[in-house]
Amino acid sequence: MKIMKNSALTSLVAAALVLTACHSATHDLVLDATPGVAIAPTMYGIFLEDINYAADGGLYAEMVENNSFEFPQALQGWDAMGLVEVNKEEPFSIHNPHYATLCYPGHHCERTGLENRGFFGFGFREGMTYDYRMYARLHKGSGAEAKVLVELVDAYQNVLSADTFTIGSRTWAEHNATFRTECTTGEGKLRMCLLGENAVDIDYVSLMPQDNLFGLRCDLVETLRDLHPGIFRFPGGCIVEGTQLESRYQWKNSVGPRLERPLNKNRWNNTFEGRYAPNYYQSYGLGFYEYFLLAEYIGASPIPVVNVGLSCQFHNSDEGAYVPVEELGTYVQDALDLIEFANGDTSTKWGALRAEMGHPAPFNLKIIGVGNEQWGEPYPKRLEVFLKAIAAKYPEIEVVGTPGPFPDGELFDFGWEEMRRLNVAYVDEHYYKSPKWFLENAARYDDYDRNGPKVFAGEYAAHIDADGLLREPCNKNCFEAALAEAAFMTGLERNADVVRMTAYAPLLAHAKSWQWDPDLIWFDNLRVVRTPNYYVQQLYSAHSGTHTLGITENGENLIGQGGLYASACYNELTGERIIRLVNVNEEETSVSLSCENPLSAEVYCYYLHAQDADYNSLDNPDKVVVQTAQTGVRGNRLTLTLLPKSFYVLTSK
Ligand code: AHR
Repeated sequence: MKIMKNSALTSLVAAALVLTACHSATHDLVLDATPGVAIAPTMYGIFLEDINYAADGGLYAEMVENNSFEFPQALQGWDAMGLVEVNKEEPFSIHNPHYATLCYPGHHCERTGLENRGFFGFGFREGMTYDYRMYARLHKGSGAEAKVLVELVDAYQNVLSADTFTIGSRTWAEHNATFRTECTTGEGKLRMCLLGENAVDIDYVSLMPQDNLFGLRCDLVETLRDLHPGIFRFPGGCIVEGTQLESRYQWKNSVGPRLERPLNKNRWNNTFEGRYAPNYYQSYGLGFYEYFLLAEYIGASPIPVVNVGLSCQFHNSDEGAYVPVEELGTYVQDALDLIEFANGDTSTKWGALRAEMGHPAPFNLKIIGVGNEQWGEPYPKRLEVFLKAIAAKYPEIEVVGTPGPFPDGELFDFGWEEMRRLNVAYVDEHYYKSPKWFLENAARYDDYDRNGPKVFAGEYAAHIDADGLLREPCNKNCFEAALAEAAFMTGLERNADVVRMTAYAPLLAHAKSWQWDPDLIWFDNLRVVRTPNYYVQQLYSAHSGTHTLGITENGENLIGQGGLYASACYNELTGERIIRLVNVNEEETSVSLSCENPLSAEVYCYYLHAQDADYNSLDNPDKVVVQTAQTGVRGNRLTLTLLPKSFYVLTSK
């Protein structure tokens, strides 16, 4: 957690905590002494979908775009000079058959070469080392030896690092080097030039920072880990469904050696008018094995999602585009095999693959999602087939179902009814709504059915432009949205017996090319920005409880009365009580909190306070950050003044 410490801040904090003397009447709050319902350790989680270049160009640390020449336009991402061919005879892998041939251009003054643009440039850092790898062979008919010069250059063609490779083999061979850069640029390129007259075939050109964790960008991984997520849902989202079934996410294509993983067109490649991403493909370099490793590393319970036999229903409305119920066999088998891949003994086919990839121990998968945002009749009848098969083979595995893409209405009600009938463990609700909606729905779960499936608030975010008003800065991760989410989350926490898992969405976005905003974390090739929404999530997850605690005013939950929202919890492992207060007022608001079981003399206070329109950007990443203070308690009463537009988390042993 980012904590600012300076003297100006200290005095601001002091001002925030003085005994009250402010405009509005003091809210007299009562904190229950007795713990209420249990809060699941899965409560605050993350959801990662490969949208906004979250995987290729983002978390997956490979810096070379289209590195196996498999994009439909085989040299997309590359600038060619001289005589470059794309061939596919006797490829390195039949799964990725194309490769580039660098041919002698006909005159010793000419150059043949390829320059890769990377994902919006290569981010090189001063003093960093990079592993370079390529597969190469002498092109058919070439002489005995060829040479290729490989250079890392900056935007001005200055060479930052270089090496020359000698290719002497007529069969594919791996060539490696380590490059080191002595300056920082976000606009680097990688260049390969043929030296001499002998042509070479080249494939799988890779440049990976040595600072990576199982092939993933460390700075992004650590940013995820700092969220202390209880669950990790992946890989989508709509990409599970695919625009058509052929382009759905097929997890089996994403495991095994990276070089053998076939390319897929990313479902977000050209979905939104004006936000085209023609170079957006899925290399599956971040595949299901890496997703499981990542879940393990960040301490989250994995929740993979599989296709239910339906392509995205927003794009395909007739049954003809879906898999007939009686032909679901391979889809169901994919789900069963996935469970075997995650948990199976190493003597099983898929458990053995997991072991071969480097993880003999099981990944401890407990929950699987089947379908994403499906709706209407087509879904439950297909889901039922999966439920039966999973229950028969893996009765211990819980299944997440969906009531569709909307948080209410006819489709939602029908979906919920069906989920109850099918008795799924969790129902995955999604809401992308205005801040106003979030504030008005803080009591959404207070009256939910306590006996049916549990809720997974699997995708949500407050959208500043959701009411059509298009305020500026349009749909950025403004504090207004973050504060509304903080207020709404008091209702999630209060209802932890019904809501067992939650996740903001989407998680990641490349600042140079994104398809959807707002997003929790923004990045470019060198930097990462934590949004105010990120800090809200973190303030919940880093200070979480094992049981709810009632917090009321005049015996009522705080769901916006006088602009105030609250929830509280107790952590039986640390003995801490945690109180969350959200003040959406334009003015300071004073509260006086009493508890029969007195709070400790020292209460730690973490808070966010900003203007509605404030947001963090790559150039100003710390505009809104968590601030801290300590305050004292008099007797069994804590009195404090909440700053206007603020979210506080108080912890007391
Ligand atoms: O989070 C972005 C998209 O929103 C997801 O892919 C989908 O599930 C939802 O519609």
